[in-house]
Amino acid sequence: MNYRFETNAIRTQTERSNFLEHSTPLYITSSFIFKDAEEMRASFAEEKERNIYSRFSNPNTSEFIEKICQMEGAEDGVAFSSGMGAVYSTFAALLNAGDHIISSRSVFGSTHSLFTKYFPKWDINTSYFNVDQIDQIEKLIQKKTKCIYVESPTNPGVEILDLELIGKIAKKYNLLFIVDNCFATPYLQNPIQYGADLVIHSATKLIDGQGRVLGGIVVGKKEFIREIYLFSRNTGNTLSPFNAWVLSKSLETLAVRIERHCSSALEISKKLEKVDQISWVKYPFLTSHPQYELAKKQMKFGGNIISFELKGGLSAGYDFINKIKLCSLSSNLGDTRTIITHPASTTHSKLSSEDRFKVGISEGMIRLSIGLEHPKDIWADLKQAINI
Ligand SMILES: Cc1ncc(COP(=O)(O)O)c(C=O)c1O
Repeated sequence: MNYRFETNAIRTQTERSNFLEHSTPLYITSSFIFKDAEEMRASFAEEKERNIYSRFSNPNTSEFIEKICQMEGAEDGVAFSSGMGAVYSTFAALLNAGDHIISSRSVFGSTHSLFTKYFPKWDINTSYFNVDQIDQIEKLIQKKTKCIYVESPTNPGVEILDLELIGKIAKKYNLLFIVDNCFATPYLQNPIQYGADLVIHSATKLIDGQGRVLGGIVVGKKEFIREIYLFSRNTGNTLSPFNAWVLSKSLETLAVRIERHCSSALEISKKLEKVDQISWVKYPFLTSHPQYELAKKQMKFGGNIISFELKGGLSAGYDFINKIKLCSLSSNLGDTRTIITHPASTTHSKLSSEDRFKVGISEGMIRLSIGLEHPKDIWADLKQAINI
């Protein structure tokens, strides 16, 4: 029987013990035991699929992976201790010294640090294209180019990249196409549908959705996942069973949570657009968004992130943040609690001001991660802080 997204999110259960528990219990164990020597040999030889050691696999982790695979339409996956664990391990497992990456310029700060600070140590270099210049990708391809890497929507500019178009370029040149789908979640967008080979999530964000645990996952084609799995199993940045259990439970409510996040974000972004003290507002499902049509095509709803700029630059931004009463000042996103971030001084402070400018982060830009509080209460807080 082919169930729908919400049903799979709730009903997928990989293990049930003799207690016949209704809800998947926690399997807090570092290892698993064997009946006899032959079972042990066969398990280590991978002739028998079963749990051996929780760095390799665990029932809680397997359930979480299976659910995300169903949601993304992926063949297989590997779960990690954080989103960055997933990003790093994907590249480290699949790339060799001398390989070349083509990446969108607008990527998460730590991913940018991997590309600029660490990978060059192993002679892995990266060329960037601006999000509005996808036509430049082909010109960046070199003999040793291995993959194209993007995030969409981007952080914090909420720009949209045309996944179908990039997927076609990757296919034409036989390049791996890797998408960080963190801002959209599997409920809003499925990059594999547009030709992605691998899809990465920081589960810390909207997948947990309640600001509790760190986690990451990569899902996609079996042949690549196998390499990433072996890398993870040998290097040890595995997702803990406890965090997997929390994240798997979170997926049961993902669809309803995301719908509410998105409807509140749309309502608030429309209100912000009418404020005189604001120079611009960006939200994918606002008709004023430059890629509104594309966002509508590849996303179910617009997500929960809004970015805007207060007239008056940095001092106006600081003033606004200091007046906030209800919303949280934090660098996280995708929580039940609405979060306000000033990217230039926090998440993207490691970028030079020139690089920040290139990815559209101005000094006065504010990022809002709209939570699940009543939208009228969120708006009242923003309104008093803007002074309207
Ligand atoms: C788009 C994106 N990718 C990856 C990460 C890294 O995730 P984590 O903090 O779980 O390592 C983040 C964190 O904010 C992110 O926003």
